[in-house]
Amino acid sequence: MTQSSALAIVLAAGKGTRMKSDLPKVLHRIAGAPMLAHVLQAGSAAGIARGCLVVGPNMEAVGEAGQAVDAGLDVFVQPEQLGTADAVKAALPALEAGQGPILVLYGDTPLLRAETLKAVVGELDAGADLVVVGFEADDPTGYGRLLFDEEGRLAGIREEKDASTAERALTLCNSGIVAFRSGETLKTLLARIGNDNAKGEYYLTDAVSLARADGLHARVVLSNAEEVLGVNSRAELAVAEAAMQMRLRNVAMAHGVTLIAPETVFFSYDTAIGRDVVIQPNVIIGPGVTIDDGATIMGFCHFENARIGPGATVGPFARLRPGAELAKNAHVGNFVEIKNAHVHEGAKVNHLTYIGDASVGAKANIGAGTITCNYDGFAKHRTEIGEGAFIGSNSSLVAPVKVGDGAFVGSGSVVTKDVPEDALAVSRVPQQNHEGWAGKVRARRTRDKSK
Ligand code: UD1
Ligand code: CA
Repeated sequence: MTQSSALAIVLAAGKGTRMKSDLPKVLHRIAGAPMLAHVLQAGSAAGIARGCLVVGPNMEAVGEAGQAVDAGLDVFVQPEQLGTADAVKAALPALEAGQGPILVLYGDTPLLRAETLKAVVGELDAGADLVVVGFEADDPTGYGRLLFDEEGRLAGIREEKDASTAERALTLCNSGIVAFRSGETLKTLLARIGNDNAKGEYYLTDAVSLARADGLHARVVLSNAEEVLGVNSRAELAVAEAAMQMRLRNVAMAHGVTLIAPETVFFSYDTAIGRDVVIQPNVIIGPGVTIDDGATIMGFCHFENARIGPGATVGPFARLRPGAELAKNAHVGNFVEIKNAHVHEGAKVNHLTYIGDASVGAKANIGAGTITCNYDGFAKHRTEIGEGAFIGSNSSLVAPVKVGDGAFVGSGSVVTKDVPEDALAVSRVPQQNHEGWAGKVRARRTRDKSK
């Protein structure tokens, strides 16, 4: 029995009413990815070969989000929410002949770790027929309590609503993750689960006492409470986000990234960062960002779908939008926005600038307040700035337009025509000096005022 023959059944048919949302609960995001994606990711990181998903009616979006992570994911619809055992039943067609271990997961536990799932498979390998992931709850309200026999073996799970006062005092709880040795074990147990309980639901948790009655071995794998936190409300979503961010920060630091104030830097699930990157406080990194070795990110930056090359310096207060690519040692300074543009090696875009749909050649220098005017109200156009070009401050480059290698653009120009290599382009009203003008006017106005 190995993970490679294992199947994960992820339950996500619940409506998630406490989220007060039009979006299905498991599609709410943690570190930029739907909660469901985190759960599927943990499954595949644990080496579980196949996954399937149980959704409610009209939850096509949930199936699609799942398949975006795992194209081979089978999606089943549970027509009515009759309980967790009924939900698992909906996925039984996914079982193959001689199906190996089956792990039932919930789509709303985004902090689940692959290590725990590996431990579960390990227990099944070691001879358990059924494994429950349990945790010690500070406040066990609402959870199923784990019950043990005199020999200390797992004997059953009691749901809160069916529990006696003594049982309610127990704090070792069911996380919701239950695993079965084989498809056969699961099927024979499921067939006998009824709904004669306080909620009138088919409880998957009843599988434990049924298994024991059959003389099967039921075991517990312990996890910490944080890891199995189920998100039911926006407040719990925020708690899960905070916990995930702490994990991502710790991973980054463990890989050689300096975070001066870790609690103020926000990562995405897929952020890739090299060694010796320094990130100053208050930086938000959206999905799709790569930061290469030795880059420095100063405070108050915002990135999304962008690449920052080795040794580059960004910020403070810089925004990199989708398609921004900074090459080695590029400099992007304060109040600069870059979108769908390559800034080549050693180029400098240091102050108050918008570079969109553009390329900036190696070692080019973009003066303060430069704007690439990429949008004419109907379509986007490109600006190409050559190697070593110098764009004077407060210039507008009206795309489509090219500035050749080594060319200069005089400060304050509006460039609407291509500038040849090594040329100077100036397009502004020539300066006129009127000698003595200010003195004469001042004298007249002072005279007028004193009258
Ligand atoms: C369940 C467990 C409880 C455990 C707790 C951990 C049962 C009977 N109880 O209780 O022991 O401590 O989780 O959080 O299993 N779902 C479906 N279809 C259904 C019902 C539920 O897909 O018909 C899905 C939900 O979307 C959710 C998960 O199953 O992801 C758990 O369902 P929920 O109703 O929240 O179970 P709890 O009462 O919290
Ligand atoms: Ca729940």
